[in-house]
Amino acid sequence: MYDFDSITDRHTPDDIKYKKIKGIDDLIPMWVADMDFKSPPEVIEELVRVAGNGIYGYSDADASYDEAVISWYKKRFDWDITGNQMIKLPGVVLAISYAVRVLTDDNDHVMIFEPVYGPFRRCVEGNGRKLTVEELKNVNGHYEVDLDEMERKIVEDNVKLLIWCSPHNPGGRVWTEDELRAVSEICKKHGVFIVSDEIHSDLVLYGNKHIPMAKIAGDNCVILTAPTKTFNIAGIQAANIISANREVLKKIDREALTTGAFGLNKMGIAATRAAYTYGEPWLTELLTYIEGNIAVVREELKGTGLIMMEPEGTYLVWIDCSSYKDFAKRLLTEAHVRVSEGSFFGRGGENFIRLNVACPRSVVKEALKRIKAVL
Ligand SMILES: Cc1ncc(COP(=O)(O)O)c(C=O)c1O
Repeated sequence: MYDFDSITDRHTPDDIKYKKIKGIDDLIPMWVADMDFKSPPEVIEELVRVAGNGIYGYSDADASYDEAVISWYKKRFDWDITGNQMIKLPGVVLAISYAVRVLTDDNDHVMIFEPVYGPFRRCVEGNGRKLTVEELKNVNGHYEVDLDEMERKIVEDNVKLLIWCSPHNPGGRVWTEDELRAVSEICKKHGVFIVSDEIHSDLVLYGNKHIPMAKIAGDNCVILTAPTKTFNIAGIQAANIISANREVLKKIDREALTTGAFGLNKMGIAATRAAYTYGEPWLTELLTYIEGNIAVVREELKGTGLIMMEPEGTYLVWIDCSSYKDFAKRLLTEAHVRVSEGSFFGRGGENFIRLNVACPRSVVKEALKRIKAVL
């Protein structure tokens, strides 16, 4: 049994999630997507071992790193990859940005489905490309893609690239094989390459099954994965970029080198290898714990007018607050609970908040008590 109940003090000056807000001493931060749980013990031991050596020179992941990643994907998703189908970069968002730069030209259109993780938009516009935004449709309380509308916009805007989020942040969808296939087919038909951000792929709940887009789209996609959300090691900044399309990988790699991004740092290599080698039992218990936390939110929100979108994956709960004005701001000032504002996720997110429930259950309960007191 792992301990997810204890509270670990994160009040250090460099902690983003716990950043001090003037005038608030009892803040409960449930916004940025990292967890308040300690990483698996084997990851901590490995990082301590590496730190204890006292030499922190340039590093490069070796075959044992690749082996740990490859085995993880085989075991968890029955997905066969080889070492030469993978490059390593210090972050998924960085990889999205590189992909946009090397796979499209100035003013080309890139499609995203909003609401979605805010930096998708930034990676497109910041690189001088044009956005084609398609809104996910809320069908019976969960998000779906309107395939006809998607195809129409692709043709209309001559879209070149799709940035896809799977599982979906913030809606928590774990896309089905049929959905993935349909999206992939439209892309293939119109020459649209897919960048699939699968950073949340290990955080799948209630027996749902994540299918890597690569198993469906083959060499028409690149998959961006990382151990960072799964094992709460976002601060070590490590991502694996995987594709059967060697040309695309080479282009991204070249762009990374041009901009001075060279593989992973020593801690990133050590933590990733340890997490994928030893972390599975910890992850199994973590997922059950998160399901328990979501159950608390579900129960507490009953009859409040706040409507939770049932997540199928992630530790993020997307809540429709249409009945309350400026709700995220009120939660901060009146309840001292910091949540992510829906507008961060673009179109369709305006009336929502996103609640990160990857924290001890006692904290979730206290937060819900405070939230309800604001209503
Ligand atoms: C969908 C998605 N992609 C990427 C990231 C960030 O990845 P990285 O820290 O590796 O850039 C997040 C973090 O919340 C995310 O939710």
